[in-house]
Amino acid sequence: MLGPLVAAIDQGTSSTRFLVFNSKTAELLSHHQVEIKQSFPKEGWVEEDPKEILQSVYECMERTCEKLTQLNIDISNIKAIGVTNQRETTLVWDKETGEPLYNAIVWLDLRTQSTVERLINKTPGRNKNHLKHKTGLPISTYFSAVKLRWLMDNVSEVHEAVVSHRAMFGTIDSWLIWCLTGGKSGGVHCTDVTNASRTMLFNIHTMDWDPELCKYFGIPMEILPRVRSSSEIYGLMKSGALSGIPISGCLGDQSAALVGQMCFQDGQAKNTYGTGCFLLRNTGAKPVMSDHGLLTTVAYKLGRDKPACYALEGSVAIAGAVVRWLQDNLGIIGSSEELEKLAASVGTSYGCYFVPAFSGLYAPYWEPSARGIICGLTQFTNKSHLAFAALEAVCFQTREILDAMNQDSGIPLTQLQVDGGMTSNRLLMQLQADILCIPVVKPSMPETTALGAAMAAGAAEGVSVWSLSPEDLSEVTSEKFEPQINPEESEFRYARWKKAVQKSMNWET
Ligand code: G3P
Repeated sequence: MLGPLVAAIDQGTSSTRFLVFNSKTAELLSHHQVEIKQSFPKEGWVEEDPKEILQSVYECMERTCEKLTQLNIDISNIKAIGVTNQRETTLVWDKETGEPLYNAIVWLDLRTQSTVERLINKTPGRNKNHLKHKTGLPISTYFSAVKLRWLMDNVSEVHEAVVSHRAMFGTIDSWLIWCLTGGKSGGVHCTDVTNASRTMLFNIHTMDWDPELCKYFGIPMEILPRVRSSSEIYGLMKSGALSGIPISGCLGDQSAALVGQMCFQDGQAKNTYGTGCFLLRNTGAKPVMSDHGLLTTVAYKLGRDKPACYALEGSVAIAGAVVRWLQDNLGIIGSSEELEKLAASVGTSYGCYFVPAFSGLYAPYWEPSARGIICGLTQFTNKSHLAFAALEAVCFQTREILDAMNQDSGIPLTQLQVDGGMTSNRLLMQLQADILCIPVVKPSMPETTALGAAMAAGAAEGVSVWSLSPEDLSEVTSEKFEPQINPEESEFRYARWKKAVQKSMNWET
């Protein structure tokens, strides 16, 4: 039964996708994906080209429309488009020329480490949580404000554009929506509450930019996008085959996955395995401050007049990125499928532990000076054991987040809902259940991030082709991975992992 169609742009750290769903069944009808190049100009720096990102969106849209036409599906049935994106990644462009003034600084980037240390040293008691009461976040290289400050201080084109009132700041959602709705000829400069809540300039209680925070980082408020809800019409597509279709959903990718997994109740949680790994637990209308190194973030606000919903978040910087590193930097695998085969061929790390702290450690440690280590090597260790240790690292990091989340909420999760690219790795899913000692549940349709953005777009006032109700997803099936090793063995391995983490944080001493 073909109902109105709703599409989503899913612009992640490693790739861009455009996906089209049937709003009657939530079935994915067609999609296209393009990889995104990352550049590493200096140690710890990670950049992406905003024009390449925009081009990849156009390419994905075009190819998906072609595929739909080949399936005899009329693209005029597409009624709305949602945007979901890698969060925190920061760029500045010139509103008169429409040109980006520097590459986008990716969320993983570490160039602001010394700025962050300076800011923390200035706070009473050297407290990295100095701004947490307003932002829900620790002062860290991860968030946009410090990246924007770096751009203003170090890129003369950005400085000049700010001084001459031509600069626009945005995260990837803002850049895409501005370009797609007309760019320099009247594009809409906006973001949604979920993306705004990752900048460190946004007050998660007042739900608006905070003048004091802007002053703290020295950011002129005029360069900021207007903050909107996650589900409303922001503007219309200006060109191409989808011209005239409303863009009416916008969510940071981790929030979108929470929506796509239908985690609308207080206490429901999901873990998404992308470039990084992000566990979000819905805390309802109340922002809960963590005592265990988690972030407090805006989960979604599905309509202008709807209440905001908050989440506790555990962020892991490196998950899928470790696979890319084994492939591109060490060359020990040719693809992610090979990693699974290699690891499965031994079924153990043979006492080897791999802490991939390439961008420092995020939750629950927030230690930017941590660095990756591999320890426990013997003459016997080979690349298969290393592959296994890399997969285990993703699972151990999730275990640390889950422990923190259980301690903060006092109500332990009894199973974990998962999604994201790495969940196709069945060995990883089994290992995750073994290391958490609870079942891991994976939906058969893994594109929950895009689904969440499409649902938000389809449910927007003025579009209303999708009611955000769990019944809409009644057809979605899932697969469950039960723990298979005894808890003592799991605890033993976890304790070793914790020792390795300590070494990664003190590797210089
Ligand atoms: O906070 C960064 C996150 O949004 C990136 O997500 O899927 O690209 O790992 P992903």
